[in-house]
Amino acid sequence: MDANLNKNGRGSWNSRLAFVLAAAGSAVGLGNIWGFPTVTAQHGGGGFVLLYLACILLVALPVMLAEMVIGRAGEKNPVGALKHLKPGTPWYLVGALGVITGLIILSFYTVIAGWTVYYFIQAMGGALTVPPGAEDSAAYFAGMFRDMIANPGYEILFVAVFMIATTAIVAVGIQKGIERSIKIMMPLLFLLLAFLIFRSVTLEGAGAGIRFYLIPDLTAITPGVIVLALGQAFFSLSLGMGVMITYGSYLSKDECLPSSAGYVVATDSLIAICAGLIVFPVIFFMISAHGADLNDLVATGAGLVFVIFPQILTELPGGTAATLVFGSAFFLLLAIAALTSAISILEVVTAHLVDDWKIPRKRAAWGAGTVIFILAIPSALSHGAVGWLSEGGWFGISFFDLLYILTFRFFLPIGALGLALFVGWVWGLEKASEEIRTGTPAFRLERLWHLMIRYIAPVAITIILIAQIVDVFGG
Ligand code: PFF
Repeated sequence: MDANLNKNGRGSWNSRLAFVLAAAGSAVGLGNIWGFPTVTAQHGGGGFVLLYLACILLVALPVMLAEMVIGRAGEKNPVGALKHLKPGTPWYLVGALGVITGLIILSFYTVIAGWTVYYFIQAMGGALTVPPGAEDSAAYFAGMFRDMIANPGYEILFVAVFMIATTAIVAVGIQKGIERSIKIMMPLLFLLLAFLIFRSVTLEGAGAGIRFYLIPDLTAITPGVIVLALGQAFFSLSLGMGVMITYGSYLSKDECLPSSAGYVVATDSLIAICAGLIVFPVIFFMISAHGADLNDLVATGAGLVFVIFPQILTELPGGTAATLVFGSAFFLLLAIAALTSAISILEVVTAHLVDDWKIPRKRAAWGAGTVIFILAIPSALSHGAVGWLSEGGWFGISFFDLLYILTFRFFLPIGALGLALFVGWVWGLEKASEEIRTGTPAFRLERLWHLMIRYIAPVAITIILIAQIVDVFGG
């Protein structure tokens, strides 16, 4: 038998470290390095950080453990695992929603990931400096971004490059593909992060940025911000669509699930916080150098990373060389973070095809990768390249935003709610605890976890969902 396969003929992780790194790699993505600093800046700084951490501890961590337990007990992808644990019931539909959510999320995630690849290449080629005689740097970089998103050829080319990389890794399998690539990419990601933080916090004006970021201003916390914080927590931790079920299904029975979940959550939160330590000093450097306004700088998410950031790069002490090194490192960091997340999403879809449809892995991965690439085309073209897909076109908002809102605000919370209810009320806490205890003889927080997964998480998620519905359809 192939050493990479377990007794069921499925892949398996080589070690607990491999699992934790892969799960953390899924969690750490554009949502941390770009999303978290942007929403934090838009919603009052330190107060939002505090709220986010509360959501993580009270709701996201218990759901993460629930997903891992389902995966290891069900030994399959989300659809197969739920079918296995509760045969003959419709609960597998929660898993099916996860697979569909995965297809949709990856179809727009890969567009942004494609932009990061494009900017990394630009940075390496020295193109992130304003040529002499050009307009001012703000106009120059806004133009560069506009040219990229209005050009169908570029958009589709870079989506293709990114999807080929993602699919090639998933097609090879758990140990030889995902594990091997993660073991190179995650340490590289930590290294790039450390380098970028060091550069940022030593900038002029950094202190003001760090204060804004880390000193909580509780007056900025409103019900709307709480909703956002929980949505951000789910997205950032890859929860609600079965990534942790799928990754958990490749775990051996003697691994300690609560501490694995704890490590993944801690890594993800730490990296989100660290990303803020890169972005905020840089923003406040801009404010102190030009008297720019914080709200203008962070008004659009895309603007912050692809327009403002390159602009600031050109002003760093150290001239062109500093711009080249800092710029390349930053966009490489984003691209790697996106790749380790994209792999996990494609793995959910691939595992479903392999487990439940008996399609060989290579064919399943390349088939799913191709479908996602095709689905990504309308999102790629919805930033101005094709009018009816863009803002103000047929859908009122851009096609990209439509998919983003649908999944981020609805499908992920619905999926997380379904999984919490499944473990808390349907499959049963006793069975879940039994599964946890096979690798964790002393599961000390068992009662607390039961309380959270049975009551606190479902109630919190339901409130959030109602608030979202009122927000989207009410006004
Ligand atoms: N957690 C990833 C991020 O923060 O960018 C995004 C993501 C990956 C969301 C996987 C959902 C998912 F299933």
